[in-house]
Amino acid sequence: MRLTRQVWARGIAAIVLGTLMAGTAVADTLTLYSGRGETLVDPIIQQFRDETGIEVQVRYGGTAELAVLLLEEGDRTPADLFWAQDAGALGALANAGRFAELPADVAADLPDIYKSATGTWVATSGRARVLAYSTTRADSMPDSVFDLTDPVYQGRVGWAPTNGSFQAFVTAMRKTHGEDETRAWLEAMKANGAAAYRNNTALVQAIADGEIDYTITNNYYLLRFVANDPDFPVAQRFFQDGDIGNLVNVAGVAVLGTSGQPEAAVQFIRYLLSEPAQAYFTSTIFEYPVVATVAPDPLLESFERLLAVSPEVDLDALEDLEGTLALLREVGLL
Ligand SMILES: [Fe+2]
Repeated sequence: MRLTRQVWARGIAAIVLGTLMAGTAVADTLTLYSGRGETLVDPIIQQFRDETGIEVQVRYGGTAELAVLLLEEGDRTPADLFWAQDAGALGALANAGRFAELPADVAADLPDIYKSATGTWVATSGRARVLAYSTTRADSMPDSVFDLTDPVYQGRVGWAPTNGSFQAFVTAMRKTHGEDETRAWLEAMKANGAAAYRNNTALVQAIADGEIDYTITNNYYLLRFVANDPDFPVAQRFFQDGDIGNLVNVAGVAVLGTSGQPEAAVQFIRYLLSEPAQAYFTSTIFEYPVVATVAPDPLLESFERLLAVSPEVDLDALEDLEGTLALLREVGLL
């Protein structure tokens, strides 16, 4: 009840604020385009406002959809900040020159897997690809995601070709192993009876339901099941160190080059990298902190282990989603 009343009061406050702001430029109000969901973002914004007095107005949407919108709006965008949950969307805008350069110290403590080589955006959390498997039926473990085409896995593996995270992973495979090897892998997986599911949650559930024995997915889906049921009959692991199957994609944030308030916007980014925000992300959504000073949730691997298993990928190169969609269509997966 109390929460409902707070949400309601906040809605009224937003309407009053909106009315007051109509026609007047109010200092220290940032506009954020967020591909991350409201339940995650809203508490962080309130803490930021409480600490700094800076208001943040948010436009929520799908990450890819907001990236397209920002490209369309160009110099006229009202956005100061873009918070995305895929490196590819950030790479598309970075490569189009839409972002401001960040002060060098913002990302100084972050390893390379958590920042753009362009210096224009930083990760706010890491989202790792993993192999999830049945604790009762998985009798063989692949060293590499390429091993899943082996006959021992025939008809036992599920995947989600329409899912954004899967597609980002395929883009990473194309960029590191090349077009031909990736096409061959996709075709061999298909020939080996890989079963398509609509999303990652359905994949993990399908293992528990006995429909498949393995899947390639993001690390946090299973942990959401396990948080509710410690006996959930699915486990997960990484492939061998550096395998592309262990891709660490990110959620990340940037300041638009057209922002009239770049300092306040950078202050928001610094807040997202601060200990309270980083601890909040890992404990709420089971993603990896990007700073070594914050411990990952106990259900996750250590910071060092994640660095060891993750492949070397140019995060901005994940922008080539079009090429991946074309390949997936070519092999009949879309
Ligand atoms: Fe996801």
